[in-house]
Amino acid sequence: MITESSSCVCPLQTVTGTLALSVFTAVLGSFQFGYNIGVINAPQKIIEADYNATWVHRYGEPIPTATLTTLWSLSVAIFSIGGMISSFCVGVISEWLGRRKAMLINNLFAFIGGGLMGMAKISRSFEMMILGRFVIGAYCGLASGLVPMYVGEIAPTSLRGALGTLHQLAIVTGILIAQVLGLESLLGSEELWPVLVGVTVLPTVLQMVLLPFCPESPRFLYIIRCQENHAKSGLRRLTGRQEVGDLLAEMKEEKRRMDMERKVSIAELFRSPMYRQPIIIAILLQLSQQLSGVNAIFYYSTSIFQKAGVQSPVYATIGAGVVNCAFTVVSLFLVERTGRRTLHMLGLSGMCGCAIVMTIALALLAIMGGMAISIHVPLAEPSPYISMLAIFGFVAFFEVGPGPIPWFFVAELFSQGPRPAAMAVAGFSNWTANFIIGFGFQYLAELCGPYVFLIFAALLLFFLIFTFFRVPETRGKTFDQISASFSQHPSAMMDLDMELGKRSTELDYLGGGGSLD
Ligand code: GLC
Repeated sequence: MITESSSCVCPLQTVTGTLALSVFTAVLGSFQFGYNIGVINAPQKIIEADYNATWVHRYGEPIPTATLTTLWSLSVAIFSIGGMISSFCVGVISEWLGRRKAMLINNLFAFIGGGLMGMAKISRSFEMMILGRFVIGAYCGLASGLVPMYVGEIAPTSLRGALGTLHQLAIVTGILIAQVLGLESLLGSEELWPVLVGVTVLPTVLQMVLLPFCPESPRFLYIIRCQENHAKSGLRRLTGRQEVGDLLAEMKEEKRRMDMERKVSIAELFRSPMYRQPIIIAILLQLSQQLSGVNAIFYYSTSIFQKAGVQSPVYATIGAGVVNCAFTVVSLFLVERTGRRTLHMLGLSGMCGCAIVMTIALALLAIMGGMAISIHVPLAEPSPYISMLAIFGFVAFFEVGPGPIPWFFVAELFSQGPRPAAMAVAGFSNWTANFIIGFGFQYLAELCGPYVFLIFAALLLFFLIFTFFRVPETRGKTFDQISASFSQHPSAMMDLDMELGKRSTELDYLGGGGSLD
């Protein structure tokens, strides 16, 4: 048996070249997801001008404002609709083709989506742009399920959280690069915007070249396809060890349990008392990510900064992107030390605090501005930088927990049998909430004015309380141990939780203790 202390000898040995390559290749999909979230923000006015030019070319008159608004909202929001639909198919597709082939074939969507968007200008067709956004959304929906599933399945137990966080790190890097390339002096110009939206096919090409060198998930091969030899050779490549009997034994145990159960459909997830609790947790975690309001910042930051009186809103947006990346890295290093539950709660409470500060600053700005106008005397207004700092803080706390954790936590909560169905339900919930915020935020902001972030503060408080009472810690536990903890009576769950935490994870690739050090 490998002891706790032996896990500290040379932890980095667990990250073999094959493991690193496989994770890197997979998260190229996450990168595209982020890129396509961030790419639409900066060049809005320029693309709208092209929609207008197309309209004039077709109908000989300028586009009516309401039509333009509808076309633009559609271009933005149809991305989430594509994601909603495809994320629901993640379960079926990943079981049918396997994780690796599903990622490979998903690239077709990226080619079609990128191609349509890149050709929209010369074809004088906003329909192509809208359709392209839908197709690329479908790509991202599949990627948002397939990547965490594949990474979670190939990662050693003690690094599952850290490697899982790389999905989010790739997303935020994609957002930041899109924000920077979207500057007018780079690709966000009248002539170059088709390149900006079309370059999304480049990571696709890279992923297609690299995927054949990555092994299929051994858990999938062994537990679902019963291909022991292929699973073994995948494990050997991923761990760099010849002897992988202990890992296989863990999978055998999981398979044994799974064989005793019926096939888990989506309906079954809600019906069976064994899955009901984890699926509710999975859905609520996804909702806590999206209904925290973070995408209100990523879709509309420029206008939020403008309203707050920040002078260079575009650069402030890029600042938010940088903070976003930096704190995902922080989470990467904390997640295996501090645990998922604590970090998630820390993130939610920090975001709640920042939302309140932001509201106070925006409200004071509005009140002082109003008073100054009515009494014709300039009053000292709160510095716009308070709102800016509050927004940066909001984003930073998001990335500490609510950003990365829900994505990989779902894969952790379920064993091999129900995992694909659970990923589909979780992904669908995430994308639906994403759509609601993307579409509804502007209306809410008009309705509530400076108080709009109080809604998010209230929701964040609710999710914090839920996490405190309902979400267990999964750090350092095997999939089998985690799912076993849910088959206990709820009150026994926390005890088991603590007991499992104490027990060293002997079946870990390294043999150990859930820590990066
Ligand atoms: C998460 C969310 C995504 C959001 C991003 C911001 O990945 O799923 O919707 O835009 O974080 O960093």
